[in-house]
Amino acid sequence: MTLVHPREAELIAAAQRAHGNAYAPYSGFWVGAAVLAESGAIYLGCNVENATYGATVCAERNAVGAAVVAGERRLEACVVFTKHSRATPPCGVCRQVLLEFGPDLLVVSVTASGLVTRAPLSELLPSAFGPSDLGK
Ligand code: THU
Repeated sequence: MTLVHPREAELIAAAQRAHGNAYAPYSGFWVGAAVLAESGAIYLGCNVENATYGATVCAERNAVGAAVVAGERRLEACVVFTKHSRATPPCGVCRQVLLEFGPDLLVVSVTASGLVTRAPLSELLPSAFGPSDLGK
């Protein structure tokens, strides 16, 4: 697997757009995500926080939800955009949700200042429990 996706620049621009709509009044930690589906379409998500805190949903999971509701079942790449000093990796829960639709998914984390990290999901979530464990 090549770690520089041919559509990386487009995905980064999309994740940056999503970042602009983040709803993060509690943490102030804005996140935008863009997932590329097998069809070639790109879906966006931002984090949506909640006054209960616990009902907060991360940008990546909202992007996955947007893809799934559009009928997608296979995801190729996920780009996470923040304006923080360190490239933001997907949280553990998001890694698990990404695995459901993208066992071969490439994760790219980007900062506004241009830091980029790239890793296959299989590296970020080794020895994962997934659909195959349930015979799917
Ligand atoms: N967050 C994301 O949206 N994605 C990540 O990968 C890490 C964390 C959000 C959740 C919460 O709104 C804020 O960032 C701080 O945790």
